[in-house]
Amino acid sequence: MGGGVGCAIAYPVAKKLHALGCEVHSIVGFRNKDLVILEDEFNAVSDKLVMMTDDGSHGEKGLVTAALEKLINDGNEYDEVIAIGPLIMMKFVCATTKKYGVKTMVSMNPIMIDGTGMCGGCRLTVGGETKFACVDGPDFDGHLVDFDEAMHRGSMYKDFEAHARDNACNLLNK
Ligand code: FES
Repeated sequence: MGGGVGCAIAYPVAKKLHALGCEVHSIVGFRNKDLVILEDEFNAVSDKLVMMTDDGSHGEKGLVTAALEKLINDGNEYDEVIAIGPLIMMKFVCATTKKYGVKTMVSMNPIMIDGTGMCGGCRLTVGGETKFACVDGPDFDGHLVDFDEAMHRGSMYKDFEAHARDNACNLLNK
């Protein structure tokens, strides 16, 4: 599969929240229109869907964080934001929501390597404590995650990082 890893993880989350009766606002971002996946699926389970592409070839041009900030500034109040995608995207989503005091969960799937607790590749610091994404997560309070450390470690896995940069995705749960 090409890009869309983050969105592929986020979609079932959005679907479930929608099924539970939550108001769901989704913001999904891709580098360009050729990488867009799951648009119809997200549309079907979202009360609001904002498509973003880096180059503006589909939806609006820009980063998902800009769309998120606009929704908040437009007066939308969110109980929780769920961010799933590349580390850099989740880092900036968390910086944005922290500013507005909105609880944010992140999925640290992108830093997992073997998923068995053996490789140590998914080690991260959350609230000053050492955690393993595959054992203790993958979902964590985004405001407590040390993204800079995680990104530094992630640079050891260049292929994976390049893959993760293929897409950015997050969804909002109102
Ligand atoms: S992915 Fe290897 S220890 Fe968690």
